[in-house]
Amino acid sequence: MSTNRLEHDTATVPGKGIASGAVTKAMSRHVVLVAAVAALGGLLFGYDTGVVSGALLFLHRSFGAIGSFDKELVVSLLLVGAVVGALGAGRIADKVGRRPTMLITAVVFIVGVLAAAFSPSLELLIAMRFVIGLAVGSASELVPLFISEAAPPKLRGALVSFNQLAVTIGILVASLVDYALAGSEDWRLMFGLAAIPAALLFVGMVFQDESPHWLIRKGRVEDARRVLAKVLPTDDIEPEINDVQSLTVSKGRLHDLLKPSLRKVILVGVILAALQQVTGINTVIYYLPTLLKDAGFGSSSSLLANVGNGIVNVALTIVAIRLVDHVGRRPLLIGGMCGMTLGLLVVAVDFLVSGGHLHGTGATVAVIAFFFYTGSFGIGLGPVFWLLISEIYPVDVRGQAMSLATMTNWGANFIVTISFLTLLDVIHASGTFFLFSALAIFAVVYTIMRVPETRGESLPQIERDLEDERQFKPGSDRK
Ligand code: BGC
Repeated sequence: MSTNRLEHDTATVPGKGIASGAVTKAMSRHVVLVAAVAALGGLLFGYDTGVVSGALLFLHRSFGAIGSFDKELVVSLLLVGAVVGALGAGRIADKVGRRPTMLITAVVFIVGVLAAAFSPSLELLIAMRFVIGLAVGSASELVPLFISEAAPPKLRGALVSFNQLAVTIGILVASLVDYALAGSEDWRLMFGLAAIPAALLFVGMVFQDESPHWLIRKGRVEDARRVLAKVLPTDDIEPEINDVQSLTVSKGRLHDLLKPSLRKVILVGVILAALQQVTGINTVIYYLPTLLKDAGFGSSSSLLANVGNGIVNVALTIVAIRLVDHVGRRPLLIGGMCGMTLGLLVVAVDFLVSGGHLHGTGATVAVIAFFFYTGSFGIGLGPVFWLLISEIYPVDVRGQAMSLATMTNWGANFIVTISFLTLLDVIHASGTFFLFSALAIFAVVYTIMRVPETRGESLPQIERDLEDERQFKPGSDRK
């Protein structure tokens, strides 16, 4: 038995959460629909972060020559907006509920992308990138939260990871849209197309129920019972309600996150959030065509390699969804991080021996290594980070704690994104990828030592288990 494994029981164990074996097809269908609607938020996250690389090439058609600082603002203000959005979303979601906060997020998306698409000035466009960022940050946190609270334990890993699948599909669709619209140079349409999934998200959320866990915590038990009846077998409903009710009550204030009993679990989320970014994923997602072009590739082969990389990301995320509730979170994380390390090391050595110019075998090796790296992220750290931060926090501080992890993720994304080109100048591509490899090795060691397994557990059960210090001590014999 793995040291950090939380035990999964298929039968109801008094005081240890609920069984989930008898989830019917209708229940599964309902919860898949809930996850699919919410995951439109993930699609928008992926699309809006991805689409800008193509749109950037054509802004001069409307606004004349644009300096690199303004271009950086167009790209990175979304990331700053996302930090702020993540900060606000958790508080609002804990206060007014998950569903109204998702509806507000959808409205901000619609307003932001339409105003960006029709923007008469560069200044307004830059401001709207910040506004879109608010919605992206909010969605990146709310979607996993909303799905995890609605899903039965056995399906939770796969359903929450729908969100990451939607993110990767959003990025892939953005690269295809950029490619398809490059001929017409229509940057407005590139931005504006996001209004379609944003409108679908709004309409879909109008028909969704509020999160049952939030309802229970607010004392609206009858409403919660009605919602739970759609996703849980009758026998499991009361134990689930009792389970959520029995958890320690706190007001969910920010300083609660600093309580010694929570510190370790908060740190796991924050450190994984930073590691997801500082191991370089978005330098590859945002800059792969640039990297390959600088290393001697033609424009179209660089763009093609980029689309290939997007497909690998989607494909391996699908594999993760199939595996995550069977093999668990830790094996995917650890295996994926080892793969990322290997891919990064090969890229670094390749750049080192080629002196920065990739030709023939060197070029082939680089593309294979980048694909391998992205695929390894897709099967592990990509989906599992978002899944774990929706699972490991106590319900009363879940929104706030997820905010903290999500803000850290966007903040680290911002720092890596703005420093990457400078890193390339100063320590070159080989040094930069060696640095990412070192951080990936740290990620492996950290995960082995500190990250808990949550497969198959109900959320209240995870909460109780994680209150136990031993969860975090490797070598403990918790069963
Ligand atoms: C990360 C994003 C990244 C995406 C790539 C997400 O899990 O948070 O920063 O762009 O994965 O698939």
